[in-house]
Amino acid sequence: MDMPNAEFWNERFAADSDSGTSLFAGEPNATIAKHVEAIRASFSEGETPRAIDLGSGRGRHTVWLTRSGWSTTALDFSSVGLEHTAAILDHEGLDAELVEGDLTQWNPEPSSFELVLASFIHLPPAQQHRLWEMVASALVPGGYLVSVSHHPDNQIHGPKNPELLYTAKDVVAAFGDTFEVIAAERDVVKRVEDREAVDTVVVLRKR
Ligand SMILES: C[S@@+](CC[C@H](N)C(=O)[O-])C[C@H]1O[C@@H](n2cnc3c(N)ncnc32)[C@H](O)[C@@H]1O
Repeated sequence: MDMPNAEFWNERFAADSDSGTSLFAGEPNATIAKHVEAIRASFSEGETPRAIDLGSGRGRHTVWLTRSGWSTTALDFSSVGLEHTAAILDHEGLDAELVEGDLTQWNPEPSSFELVLASFIHLPPAQQHRLWEMVASALVPGGYLVSVSHHPDNQIHGPKNPELLYTAKDVVAAFGDTFEVIAAERDVVKRVEDREAVDTVVVLRKR
C-alpha cells in the first residue's frame, strides 16, 4: 500500500507554514481535550504523569499536554513538524522530548506512560495492529489510550482508502478484555451541505 512518507508530511507542513494556514496546528482537538482533561484531573496538581503523542504532527497536542502538566514525548517522522513543535515549546518556555522516528518501528519501554495519545493516525491494518500492541505494552496499569481518528463513514478530509479507517469496535477488539472501555463512539463532528465529518473516538484504561 502506498503510504504518505516523511517527505510528504514535511512538504505539507512546510507549505502550511509558508501560506500561514494551520493544518494540524493551533488548538487541540476538542474531543481529545475533553477526555484528556478528565484524565489529568485524576492526578494531583503536583504530579507530572507521562504522556506520548504518537504522530505528533506540528505539535498542537504536545504543546497543550506539556502546558497542562504532562511530561510529554512527541514521536513523528516529520522533522518539519518537530521543528515547528520545538519552536512553539521554546517560545512558551516549555520542555518536551521530541523524537524523530517511525511509528511502525516504535518499541517502547513497557509500562512507561500514563497516557498514550493517537490523534488521526491511519496506518495499514498490520502496522496499525502492531502499533496498538505497542500501546498496550507502553501503558502502565491504570494508564489510558485516547484515540481520535477518521471513521470509515467520514466524508470530509482524511484518507479515502477504507483499509486505513477503523471503527471504535475495531480498536476495542484489538485491545481485548485487559482494557476497560471508557468511550467508544462514532462521532459526527460537523456537516457541510450534505457531507459529514465523522470521527472514531476511543478511550481505554488498562486494568
Ligand atoms: C494527520 S497528521 C496528525 C497530526 C497530529 N496527531 C494532530 O492531530 O495534529 C498524521 C501525522 O502522523 C505522522 N505519521 C504518519 N505515519 C507515520 C509513521 N509511520 N511514523 C511516524 N509518524 C508518522 C505524520 O508525519 C503526521 O505528522
